[in-house]
Amino acid sequence: MHKYEKIWLSFGTVSLAVFLLILLVSALHGGHSPAASGIETIHPEHVLDDERFANPGLYESDDPDYDYDLYFVASAFRYDPAEVEIPVGSRVKVSVATTDVIHGFQITGTNVNFMVEPSLVSNYTYTFNHPGEYLVLCNEYCGIGHTDMTSIVKVVE
Ligand code: CUA
Repeated sequence: MHKYEKIWLSFGTVSLAVFLLILLVSALHGGHSPAASGIETIHPEHVLDDERFANPGLYESDDPDYDYDLYFVASAFRYDPAEVEIPVGSRVKVSVATTDVIHGFQITGTNVNFMVEPSLVSNYTYTFNHPGEYLVLCNEYCGIGHTDMTSIVKVVE
């Protein structure tokens, strides 16, 4: 009996050590919990001073996890760029910042659908596997021109 107690005790100690190690590793990586990932702040008045949003559009990525960065600027009542082409099969990190109020960024026919809040860069990574034209729209009421707030994503062969 004594022997089994010892085994259980060491099992417990090892489990605790592993658990603490996992906590430590995720803390060092900036946290991979869904709530903490990808949070980046940006002042709404300085969005256009940022080189990514000064020239929004599609850029090849150095990150091995995805092929392209795609930047959009949201403002009442438009998206910039108004149209963008993506090669089919590309994994794309879509990042959006607003220069004014809250907008709801959605690429219809895909899983890309998130709020764009002032002072935050919001992003979602998605693989565009099907060629076609996808309407980008705003799904958060943002003022008189809300329904005009669109763009087109063309997924091309
Ligand atoms: Cu932007 Cu509704």
